[in-house]
Amino acid sequence: MNVLVIGNGGREHAIVHALAKSPLVDKMYCMKGNAGIAELAECVDVDYCDVKAVGDWVDAHPDVEYTVIAPDDPLALGLADELEGRGHRVFGPNKAAAQIEASKSFAKQLMKKYGIPTAAYEVFDDYDKALAYVRGGKFPVVLKADGLALGKGVLICETLEEAEQGLRQIMLDKAFGAAGNKVVIEEFLQGKEFTPGEEVSVLTFTDGKTIVPMLASCDHKRALDGDKGLNTGGMGTFTPCPFYSQEIADEVMQNILLPTVHAMNAEGRPFKGVLYCGLMRTPEGMKVVEYNARFGDPETQVVLPMLKTDLMEIFQAITDERLADINIEWEQGACVCVVLASGGYPQKYEKGKPIEIGALDEDVILYHAGTARKDGALVTSGGRVLGVCAKGDTVAEARKKAYANIQKIKFEGMQYRSDIGIKYNAGV
Ligand code: AMP
Ligand code: GLY
Repeated sequence: MNVLVIGNGGREHAIVHALAKSPLVDKMYCMKGNAGIAELAECVDVDYCDVKAVGDWVDAHPDVEYTVIAPDDPLALGLADELEGRGHRVFGPNKAAAQIEASKSFAKQLMKKYGIPTAAYEVFDDYDKALAYVRGGKFPVVLKADGLALGKGVLICETLEEAEQGLRQIMLDKAFGAAGNKVVIEEFLQGKEFTPGEEVSVLTFTDGKTIVPMLASCDHKRALDGDKGLNTGGMGTFTPCPFYSQEIADEVMQNILLPTVHAMNAEGRPFKGVLYCGLMRTPEGMKVVEYNARFGDPETQVVLPMLKTDLMEIFQAITDERLADINIEWEQGACVCVVLASGGYPQKYEKGKPIEIGALDEDVILYHAGTARKDGALVTSGGRVLGVCAKGDTVAEARKKAYANIQKIKFEGMQYRSDIGIKYNAGV
């Protein structure tokens, strides 16, 4: 069958790369794609946040039998509803279910109502009331813009002064736009042995009845080594997560994954797609830091290369609500992805820098994110540019291979973290 993938980052390149291996998939389209994706799929220049325009394009291409919606914003805008309403087959939750990511206050209220472990919180839409609350509270405190903010709408404030400034930024200056109309003010979760706590990303497949976790992975959200610098979309990932034991996985299944599926059904918002649980290990057990309604970026870049089962088969089983009938298998070993970003990211950066790529080891996967072709030459076109992904028997081995291959890639201003795959003693 012919498949359309929505999105244009490293995550979408990983999805397209995995689907290209499926005997079920003939031709792929990608809206909008990037220079790497263009080698596997025909790129389509339509704004995927214009849900009507996407619907019109799919209607006009009857050869497209299935659409995979990867990014958060078209899901939150109801692209799945639009396409299903026009009779098309889709992978991705509908608008009502995508609220679990699109509104942090919705997600927090859901967790409170169904007893799913998470940080204590209050929600405010009034600046003065929010201010009075932080003035009477403990520090550090966590401020979160309610809506989608490219992973940047979370502020951890050590002092009252920082919290006052943060509230002003979110609620008055609207630094994250309408996402800041409401703010969630959260208790700062302490880690079990470290501060802040150990974090893990557990992406799952679910059809609203069955939920199957993928391999657990660890993201690096800060821009600089040692988790310093600003929050980014993610600077690198590795799998497996060293502290994620079978015992913890069982606890997460019982206390978080199954109750979340149940809660969404009970609310009349059955969730079908990838449910991403960002979790923290605390002295009281595993707690939810955030839900996403989609594959993570760059988690997908280390998880999908380890998938042995046909991804297209899994997508179809979810659409048809028969996930329970499928056996999902994973490779043994480890995978590491290091993101190469433009100088200045996540703040201001320049685009259009020529990229030079030498001969990489055969088993290294180079995922494209912000890349484009200009007069045939490969150039940068975004903040996160490439993801260098390597496998190994251990995280240490995979990490070594990823960094050795990075030495063969160059563009002006290229920046990357040199410590991906070390934390939680993964790389030793
Ligand atoms: P989020 O975008 O919600 O995943 O938050 C970004 C990052 O902020 C997380 O990965 C955590 O490192 C941190 N964070 C968010 N909420 C809390 C919390 N309640 N306590 C401690 N750290 C947090
Ligand atoms: N890597 C974090 C995210 O995709 O939200």
